[in-house]
Amino acid sequence: MSVATETDRLLLRDWRESDKQAFYDIMNTPPVMKHLGGVQDWEGWSAAYDRIAGFTRDFGHTFWIVEDKATGEILGFCGLKRVNAPGSGDLLGTPEIGWRLRESAWGRGIAKEAAIASLDLAFGRFGYPEVIAMTIPANTDSQGLMIRLGMVRREDLDFTDTRFGPELNPAIVWSIDAKRWPAARAAALA
Ligand SMILES: CC(C)(COP(=O)(O)OP(=O)(O)OC[C@H]1O[C@@H](n2cnc3c(N)ncnc32)[C@H](O)[C@@H]1OP(=O)(O)O)[C@@H](O)C(=O)NCCC(=O)NCCS
Repeated sequence: MSVATETDRLLLRDWRESDKQAFYDIMNTPPVMKHLGGVQDWEGWSAAYDRIAGFTRDFGHTFWIVEDKATGEILGFCGLKRVNAPGSGDLLGTPEIGWRLRESAWGRGIAKEAAIASLDLAFGRFGYPEVIAMTIPANTDSQGLMIRLGMVRREDLDFTDTRFGPELNPAIVWSIDAKRWPAARAAALA
């Protein structure tokens, strides 16, 4: 198991085999999955888990497990993949940040702390020039975090994810680039 990075309160680490079941038990609740198509069956989660493992293998980064350093508890995931959504056009392959926390971790600045650490890795260790984030219009919690991180809304990049119907579309896109990150980071921490 390797740790991608560490913050004051958190470890962002690779997945262990035992995390697959634990994550499903903790995270697969109606509030957490509200804007993600609703609660998943085991088959759906297994496919998602395989994609997460594939990102580590292919890119050396993924949506890492976010672990509470004080308790060892799994709080969710946060990290980096690359856009793989069908319908995303020119965005395909662009570095993408994503997050999903258990309900007990909401409203504590945990997602922001994990996201800042992930963007530091994106622009530092991985040398990416730009990172995007995407969600659906109804997910105002996720967009609130994008705003707190200083990400910029990119309506020109919005698209229809052809896997899903109107309840999970359009995919709306936000972006931050390496040049803007130092100032955005400072503002996010202020
Ligand atoms: C999206 C999601 C990760 C956002 O989490 P979050 O906890 O709202 O985000 P942050 O970490 O930035 O925390 C911000 C809140 O913590 C509060 N906070 C408390 N202590 C804090 C601290 N030490 N530092 C920063 N903020 C703190 C802030 O005031 C803010 O509260 P508010 O929303 O009441 O104003 C979370 O809602 C989630 O997991 N949703 C379900 C999954 C999902 O939809 N994922 C995204 C798919 S696109």
